[in-house]
Amino acid sequence: MDIQKETSKIKSMIEEDKKSVKTIQELNELKVKYMGKKGIISELNSKIKDVPNEEKKTFGMKVNEVRTLFNDFYDAKKEEIENKVLNEKLEKERIDITMPSKKIKRGSKHPMTRIEEKFEDLFLSMGYTIYDGPEIESDENCFQKLNLPKGHAARDAQDTFYLKDEFENYLLRSQTSTAQVRAMEENKDKGPLRIVCPGKVYRRDEDATHSHQFMQIEGLVIDENVSMADLKGTLELFCKAILGEKTKVRFRPSYFPFTEPSVEVDVTCFKCGGKGCALCKQTGWIEVLGAGMVHPNVLEMSGYDSKKYQGFAFGTGIDRFAMFKYGITDIRTIYGNDIRFLTQFDRKDDE
Ligand code: DAH
Repeated sequence: MDIQKETSKIKSMIEEDKKSVKTIQELNELKVKYMGKKGIISELNSKIKDVPNEEKKTFGMKVNEVRTLFNDFYDAKKEEIENKVLNEKLEKERIDITMPSKKIKRGSKHPMTRIEEKFEDLFLSMGYTIYDGPEIESDENCFQKLNLPKGHAARDAQDTFYLKDEFENYLLRSQTSTAQVRAMEENKDKGPLRIVCPGKVYRRDEDATHSHQFMQIEGLVIDENVSMADLKGTLELFCKAILGEKTKVRFRPSYFPFTEPSVEVDVTCFKCGGKGCALCKQTGWIEVLGAGMVHPNVLEMSGYDSKKYQGFAFGTGIDRFAMFKYGITDIRTIYGNDIRFLTQFDRKDDE
């Protein structure tokens, strides 16, 4: 047998077969054809036993040559086909980034959050800092240090939820005015202060305009030479910024144990503009704030020198402002978490 001839025959067969292979399956069929147990190259290899010894080496080398030729072709072709398949797949599955995406349903801010943020932004812009106090307070901070000793008649107006047993001197704060005490006591150098404290407060009543839990915001300014004029200016600016420039503001003398003198602040009814309607009970005015000059006793009890420092303070219900602003008639809906109610404010801009 002429091994040279045999192997060049096989070589040209491989060259011929190469041309038509397109798939992995066809490629594997070729592998069987050449390299399988009964494949052409394997058959040729098995003939080595009939070859005279001195030719065995050349024979073996020649067979190896075609074997390598086939294997190299096989490996290269396999890679080529696999790449092609992958590229086709990538091409088919390409993401079209120009396609409009699925709309994400946006939530909206709770009307109370909107109002609270508006208040905070306004006071921050006037140089106040935001102060957070706890909702469970001591009787001392909630009443005594605000000039309402035990048994004081004015406590009745804010009768609230006390804790039991060994915590009977603690209660759910009935007013954010507690923040005044905390802020003054924490201020070690007993110098100027300018804070607002928004937060939840609790009282024992509940009807369309009162909830057992509602939100207040408290303001406190302490400095030298602070007067009632500063209080009036600040609250007028505040009411106009929240309820509109046309709003008129009226101050009425009033009583709070922690301020002297004390005032209640009314604004012209946002609904009728002051003419008189059902909302303002035909008066044209709506009461929105309690305020006053901090009582010297209150300053002294928290370590301030009332000869050197004066202060003014104010407190208001955030809920009431939200009700005015958004025309909400029942305060309980604010805390009801009914999605149908809350989504009404989706697009209502505060401006
Ligand atoms: N804390 C009072 C209330 O809940 C409101 C208030 C009145 C706060 C006068 C003040 C103030 O800081 O000076 O009705």
